[in-house]
Amino acid sequence: MSNTDKNRIVIFDTTLRDGEQSPGASMNLDEKLRIALVLEEMGVDVIEAGFPIASDGDFEAVNEIAKVVKDSTVCGLARATRGDIERCADAIKPADRSRIHTFISTSPLHMKYKLQMEPERVLEKVTESVTLARNFTDDVEWSAEDGSRTERDFLCRCVEAAIKAGATTINIPDTVGYAIPVEFADLISHVMNNVPNMDKAIISVHCHNDLGLAVANSLAAVSVGARQIECTINGLGERAGNAAMEEVVMALKTRNDLMPYTNGIKTENITKASRLVSTITGFSVQPNKAIVGKNAFAHESGIHQDGMLKHAGTYEIMTPESVGLNKSKLVLGKHSGRHAFKDKLADLGYDIGDNAVEDAFKRFKDLADKKKEVFDEDIMALVDDEILRANDRISMISLEILCGTAHNPPEASLEMNVDGDIKSCKSTGDGPVDAAFNAVKNLFPHEARLQLYQVHAVTGGTDAQAEVTVRLEENGRTVNGQAADTDTMVASVKAYINALNKLLVKREKSAPSALSA
Ligand code: KIV
Ligand code: ZN
Repeated sequence: MSNTDKNRIVIFDTTLRDGEQSPGASMNLDEKLRIALVLEEMGVDVIEAGFPIASDGDFEAVNEIAKVVKDSTVCGLARATRGDIERCADAIKPADRSRIHTFISTSPLHMKYKLQMEPERVLEKVTESVTLARNFTDDVEWSAEDGSRTERDFLCRCVEAAIKAGATTINIPDTVGYAIPVEFADLISHVMNNVPNMDKAIISVHCHNDLGLAVANSLAAVSVGARQIECTINGLGERAGNAAMEEVVMALKTRNDLMPYTNGIKTENITKASRLVSTITGFSVQPNKAIVGKNAFAHESGIHQDGMLKHAGTYEIMTPESVGLNKSKLVLGKHSGRHAFKDKLADLGYDIGDNAVEDAFKRFKDLADKKKEVFDEDIMALVDDEILRANDRISMISLEILCGTAHNPPEASLEMNVDGDIKSCKSTGDGPVDAAFNAVKNLFPHEARLQLYQVHAVTGGTDAQAEVTVRLEENGRTVNGQAADTDTMVASVKAYINALNKLLVKREKSAPSALSA
């Protein structure tokens, strides 16, 4: 390994596995594929695509991602059991580069209460699971769940056994986000210096953010020799989430003077990935979130603005362009043609089929008629919306709402296409959204419960498109529906219907309930 290789950090993204385990963040196959392709494009080394034993849906997602992703390693998670490992091996089989990530708890608390296993049995399972996994791929990662609360001697024995059995990456998770940076760095150093065969594997860290220290702990670990960081887009993940990839890579880039490491991430793709994950999951990014928050590069106070005008470096430690945040560009107008529209899509990174381009172009013309100024964000919302509705069984045909002081109660008239039947009705409700949603329920009766209704303006101005997320839950399954339109009520009904379409797909597949790691 050259000196440069020794300083290369492997970026392991687990948005589709740990990230998806956040309550409410479940994604369908199509959405997972879209995220996987964006992760591949941005240069992620390893994509943890799911937990194949958890459900048929998880298996299918890992399997499909393994078929299409070429430039990143595709990884599946497995507990230390034959069933998990064989299912995982099946799922990742089509991948050009595949990894099995197998784990078992090693802390006294987890071994006693969760596993109800003696430490010596856990140690045997480490060897058994890694040995089995190595029959299917040369790239095996072993994780010590609750590693940061594991007794050091026992942790070192487990790591040594895993490497001896063939593990090529050893992951030490701070599963419950309990560690602090000096302590975590010391633990990683201890493992590196006390496991005799440690030179035969890469050491990885997987930090949760319960104390807001996931990124700090990951970077502290790198400073003492960890060479893989597990992270997620927007810091999605169990409870308070995982280390945010955008923060990890921008810290490494911006403070390369003190952290002279390399990685393969094209940071200009960060904003696109963040936006996609947020739209798909309905988890909006807080405005003051580092790197990807709406205000991350905004300068409000007069003193700061004055400084910025004189020299951007006064208040900006990285450029917005470096994370793919270009100044909102006024794009095409209502006189722009198909060719310019297609060029714009390519510029924004969309590669959609001719029919989808044609539909999106028609919608762009409608939008340009309604809205004075059309920005990149408008085009992105419009195309995302088009992609979302590609296979819908239920769709909205027309909607009219009567509301305001003269109309009490508000009334919605809705026309919908349900599996080819055109149906219509009028419904009232406690406010226009309630009236419209009641109308949807009249035309398509269902038991799903509304868990989230969220509206965002895509750009500034009162003529901005509204981007709506509706989260529905049915029999323990959660789906997120999205839509965008200049009319907030139209976007709301379309988002609701989009969620119902996703529930229909889930019902058809009737996957067993998911496990979580
Ligand atoms: O947090 C954790 O310990 C995990 C393991 C499965 C790596 O997610
Ligand atoms: Zn985790």
